[in-house]
Amino acid sequence: MALTGLENNDLKLIIFGGKGGVGKTSCAIATALALSENFKTLLISTDPAHSVSDCLEQQIGFKVVKVEGTTGLSAIEVFADEALSGFKTEHLGELKKLLETSTNLDNEDIDEMLTLSIPGIDEAMSFKTIIDFIEDGGYDKYVVDTAPTGHALRLIASPKLLDEWIKVAARMRWKYRFMITSFSGSYQQDEVDAFLLNLKKTVKRIENVLRDNTKCEFIPVCIPEAMAILETGRLLSDLSKSEIIARQIIVNNVMVSEGCDFCKRRMTGQRPYLQKINETYSHLNKVEVPMFPEEIKGLEALNHLRMYLFGDKHVNW
Ligand SMILES: Nc1ncnc2c1ncn2[C@@H]1O[C@H](COP(=O)(O)OP(=O)(O)O)[C@@H](O)[C@H]1O
Ligand SMILES: [Mg+2]
Repeated sequence: MALTGLENNDLKLIIFGGKGGVGKTSCAIATALALSENFKTLLISTDPAHSVSDCLEQQIGFKVVKVEGTTGLSAIEVFADEALSGFKTEHLGELKKLLETSTNLDNEDIDEMLTLSIPGIDEAMSFKTIIDFIEDGGYDKYVVDTAPTGHALRLIASPKLLDEWIKVAARMRWKYRFMITSFSGSYQQDEVDAFLLNLKKTVKRIENVLRDNTKCEFIPVCIPEAMAILETGRLLSDLSKSEIIARQIIVNNVMVSEGCDFCKRRMTGQRPYLQKINETYSHLNKVEVPMFPEEIKGLEALNHLRMYLFGDKHVNW
């Protein structure tokens, strides 16, 4: 089978996830390449390992660049650390004032507090960067490559965590507001209130895209091995708790050659796992990709992979 439905106009965000080393980066880039022929496509890497640059054999950084050798494909690396430090620099004043007005901490304690992370905020800021791109509307499709499973889940869980932090901050503010109103009879909204309101809006914007199955699709990548199957199971069950339902799954590294004893044994070894995937995910569209003799590096190899993902070639096992 081939990946389906990605050309639907409403579908903007396509996120690839799965265990480390199963082929997420390769599949995300090959998908972005295929889509870029008919749609203006932005490939976004959120994996700090710089694997997109390595795979494309082109330096990609925290700035959109055109992918050489393609017509409609651009790429950018968006890292949680950078997104967060940008956010902290931009909002240091508001964060400081929030703590000054709502706690009994002294300046030293406040400075220390500010070095601590707000739960979910780094990933939420990566997501905010992605949503900003989508809302700017410069591209038709946004293809996101994530770091291994835990990261994809943190990314998805980030709006909820951030929302909880905002609630606590708002409660602290409410006490401050109550005090001011009691003493002076009225309360003027200040920059901290505006900051919390904006943060709340960011959470809503992320959730609106993430929870909408017509706008966002999550594609798990798996390989026929015990650990990868277990991890895919956990990933899909955690995703469904966040109301994100996968429609299709990529099964990568399928052995197809019976040429040598080694290949035969690998093939036989994979068979029960392929059956398990078929049974467990009978409701999903399964796209099988063979194990290639070489690693997937450079446009030619990526285009070869793309033929399996988009139906020009099929695996028979
Ligand atoms: N079908 C395949 N056949 C051969 N090598 C593959 C295949 N899919 C991925 N690879 C190679 O496996 C390694 C891990 O792939 P990658 O896409 O980086 O995985 P992930 O992003 O999940 O860590 C890379 O060296 C890649 O070239
Ligand atoms: Mg990767």
